[in-house]
This record gives sequence, C-alpha cells and structure tokens, in this order.
Amino acid sequence: MDLKGKTVVLALTGGIAAYKIATLASMLVKQKATVLVLMTENATRFIAPLTFEALTGTRCMVDTFDRSFSFEIEHVAVADRADLVLVAPASANVIAKMANGIADDMLTTTVLACRCPKLVAPAMNTGMYENPATQANLARLRGYGVEVIDPACGRLACGAVGPGKMPEPQQLLEHIQRHLTCQKDMAGLHLLVTAGPTREALDPVRFITNHSTGRMGYELARAAMLRGAQVTLVSGPTALEPPPFVELVRVESAQQMHDAVMAAAPAQDVIIKAAAVADYRPAHTAGEKIKKSGADLTLELTRTPDILAELGAARRPGQFLCGFAMETRDLLDNARAKLEKKGADMIVANSLREAGAGFGGATNHVTLVEPTGCTDLPLAGKDEVAHRILDRILARRAGA
Ligand code: C5P
Repeated sequence: MDLKGKTVVLALTGGIAAYKIATLASMLVKQKATVLVLMTENATRFIAPLTFEALTGTRCMVDTFDRSFSFEIEHVAVADRADLVLVAPASANVIAKMANGIADDMLTTTVLACRCPKLVAPAMNTGMYENPATQANLARLRGYGVEVIDPACGRLACGAVGPGKMPEPQQLLEHIQRHLTCQKDMAGLHLLVTAGPTREALDPVRFITNHSTGRMGYELARAAMLRGAQVTLVSGPTALEPPPFVELVRVESAQQMHDAVMAAAPAQDVIIKAAAVADYRPAHTAGEKIKKSGADLTLELTRTPDILAELGAARRPGQFLCGFAMETRDLLDNARAKLEKKGADMIVANSLREAGAGFGGATNHVTLVEPTGCTDLPLAGKDEVAHRILDRILARRAGA
C-alpha cells in the first residue's frame, strides 16, 4: 500500500518548520511517490532548494517564470500532475492569500490552479494563529474544501508555548496516505473493531490475560480507515501505536469491552470482533493484594459476557457481524459451530499451531467461514489479510 504512481506536491512557505519537510519528502520518496517541491522566496531562506532536489530527484520550483518544465506553463503543468498538494509549513500570509484567491508567486499560483485535494498545515506563532483574521481565513479555506491540519501545541521557535507547531512529518504522511492509498469503497460506513486481549483483575496487582497483541485488529481498523470508513476501535491493553483517524476507546476487562461495544453497536454497519476476550474472570477481585501462605490457592472463575453472541442476538437488520476464532485443534469445525451459535455472518478462523499465523507476528493465515462455505486466504501480511477480510465483507453486503 505505497504511493507508487502518485504525485505529491509539497508547497513550503517561510517558517522554521520548513526543515521538517525534508524528512517528509524523504518519507514520501521511500513510499515511491513522485514528489514535486514548490517554495516561496521566504521558504528558501530557511532551507535550500538543493536539499529537496537531492532528496526527490526533481527540480525545486520557486518562481513563476521558470519555463524549463517541458516548455509548458509551469504552474498549470504542476497543478495538472498533482494528486495532492500539501502546503506545509503554511504561513499566516500564504493562508491569507489562499483564502482570497491571491496568486502572486509560483506557489500560490500553482495551488490556486490545483483541482486535487489540498491540505494546509499552519505553522506560526500562537498569537498569529489565534488572531481572528487567521482563523477566519482558515474557516474560509475549510469552506472551499481544503483540509486544515490542526497545529500541535508545544514550544514554538519564538519561545512561546501554545498552538502553532507544525505536526511531525509522520503525522503529515498519514494525512497524505489517507487521501492517496486505497479506493474509498467503505466511505459512509460505520465500522467497529475490537482488538487486543482483556485483563481480568485478581487483585490490585495481578490479572488473567492472554497472548493477543492486538495486531490483526489494529490492521483491520487501519485498512477500513484508509478505505474511507468511520472507524471505532475498542482496544484492550496493547503496546501498539493506534492508527490515526480512528476513534479509539481503551478498555481493560471483558466487562468494560462489553459496555463500550454495546454502547457503540447500534450505530455500526459492520462489527468485527478480533479481540481475544477472556471467557472467565475471577469471581471475586480482592481489594488488597492477595498474600501468599503455605497452602495452595484455588481461584474461582466466573463467565464473562459473550459480547459477540449478545451482538448476534440484538443486531439490527443490515448490520454485518464478523467474529474471530483461534483454536489449537478442530479449527474449522469450531469456527462453523461458532458462526451458528453466535449468530454471526462470518468467522475468521486462524490457527495457533501454524508457522506465520496467530499471535503477535506480522503475517497471518486465515480461513473465512461463512454460511455458504469456507474460503482459505493465502498466508500474507496482516495488513493484506485485513484488506481481504474487508473485501469479502463488502462483497457480502453487496449481496454476494
Ligand atoms: O467463544 P470464543 O471465544 O471462541 O469466540 C471467539 C469470538 O467471540 C471472537 O470474535 C471474540 O472476540 C468473541 N468473544 C466475545 N466475548 C467473549 C468471548 C469471545 O465477543 N466473552
């Protein structure tokens, strides 16, 4: 899911954050994008065009009257090639020009001519950012369909602390990827994914859990987000970086996961339960740490709510319900039984016994178990597997 074949125009204005765009340009090149760089005269005082030329292998464009771009009208040629333009760092001055259709240099002329998605990352002193004139200009840009990437709060180059800091290159890259990777075939769909293990407390110190890392669920959330869905990710404790642009609800216990999922469920078109929910929890959670004694200790366990089964019983028409099954034996038989017992539309069966599948790793081998039969998917990266699962869900929703 790289950016091969996509042309990204990076438009830099005069701000100290310009240096961060060198990292972004390099990241985009690694993603196989064609990167064209436009700079205002002021931007070239902060970072040299040569830096970008070395990183991107394309000529950096600064003024309007340079005609070496295949003898075409350059700003129009660049605008025609662009799949996306990101103005970053965007100064208050250039934001004001863009908001008013002023085009008096290569950068503003090209951005005005672009018909592709436009993103703007304001970066400036807090006073300038919060000034009603700047805010009105940003509101106007939003009204024109420009995506404004909110600045972060932090220490600014001027020494002040507040909003105005340009987001880090990784975050800018994620905004670009969201626009340019994947067909938006899930636009308008609400999708909920659960991921990770649960923790069932024995006392304030100890808990019962399992080996789930949450990776498959997080890849599903990311894939659905990239395909345009509005994603809610209900996650047990994991060490993973949550995907951007999803609503993350953190929970610990099966009961908390149950409550979060049931609250969000009515609004969902698709629910995928990839979490490894504990089936049992301690019948009593001690208020104080359980002290050891000479005798053995027997724990009494009680059932947790079966969230998937409850969803299956209470779902609304048209809602697609997908569960996961991980077994150490009789995988497909168990998965088929689960499909029926839980009232799900699909069970994704993955074996714990197989190399390259199961907990933690980057790959998975799964079989999609449906009322009409089973589909074995090839061993692949969990991101790829996530997309194939979503493909099938979309096909089923379309009546396949
Ligand atoms: O019953 P079993 O745990 O084998 O089924 C697995 C599927 O059911 C997974 O999709 C899991 O997220 C879900 N599940 C659940 N609530 C539980 C246990 C499992 O929703 N208490």
